[in-house]
Amino acid sequence: MATLAPSQFERIAEIAKRRWGLCFSEKKLPLVTNRLASFIRRSPFKDVQSYLDHLEKHASEEDMLVFFDILSTNVTSFFRDPAHFECLEREFFTPLARGNTTTPGRRIRIWSAACSTGQEPYSLAMSACESLPDLDSWDVKILGTDLSNSAVAQARSATYPADKLDGIPPAIAERHLIHDRRAGTATIAPRARGLVTIARLNLMDAWPFKSKFDVIFCRNVMIYFDAPTRRDLVKRFHELLHPGGILALGSSESLAGLNAPFTPVQPSVYRSA
Ligand SMILES: C[S@@+](CC[C@H](N)C(=O)[O-])C[C@H]1O[C@@H](n2cnc3c(N)ncnc32)[C@H](O)[C@@H]1O
Repeated sequence: MATLAPSQFERIAEIAKRRWGLCFSEKKLPLVTNRLASFIRRSPFKDVQSYLDHLEKHASEEDMLVFFDILSTNVTSFFRDPAHFECLEREFFTPLARGNTTTPGRRIRIWSAACSTGQEPYSLAMSACESLPDLDSWDVKILGTDLSNSAVAQARSATYPADKLDGIPPAIAERHLIHDRRAGTATIAPRARGLVTIARLNLMDAWPFKSKFDVIFCRNVMIYFDAPTRRDLVKRFHELLHPGGILALGSSESLAGLNAPFTPVQPSVYRSA
């Protein structure tokens, strides 16, 4: 397929920004061209023009989610950026385990926002199991959300190819994975898996939460948003976190310039003021 015409790229960028907050610069042109070409070959659409016409005029929500999957990047891994998990243990789980903080009703609520295929919320669940010796006496819930249908389906399965398990420290893998050697996969064991709920959520929509969170991980998605969208999102995270709650961003992301009421804990990790 020839490179997208500037007007086609503009139409794509307009849908992505309006619906999902994603900003596509010209640098993304080759990537978007390749992905669309491969989709069009497998689809009933005769070319990009007719696909874009369909998206703009007749598309269902499901059609739009297929388009989102064409455009989005789902790269993730278990215990990605280990410094964030070490920080969580030091700043959150260990003080809780030592009784150095008051947590009403022993409720712990953690949100992995834009969790892709689920490695992040399951890493958080394994961390909770490892760090809280009396786990059963806590009411721990970890929510993982993403907009991608395919990512959410994989996250719900809690099953991963053996070559995607690298980030899990061996002793933790031993306690929290059930291997199916014949299939070459491993599934998260019930203790950690039972803490996690996976749901589909567009970060740009209204959020359905009734109570606040202690920790929010929103990593490696804000890089795709412009500054006003990031500012708005971080404001909403602040409203949703308990005072002193923890917000972790991707290691290349920060709150610099967003004028947000958070204090830095370490690079890309913050406490709600
Ligand atoms: C690179 S992955 C990050 C996964 C994980 N947080 C990590 O750091 O490893 C980015 C994820 O953001 C999701 N995403 C992008 N825009 C979104 C939106 N508006 N609402 C919800 N999820 C979105 C994509 O589907 C993708 O799974």
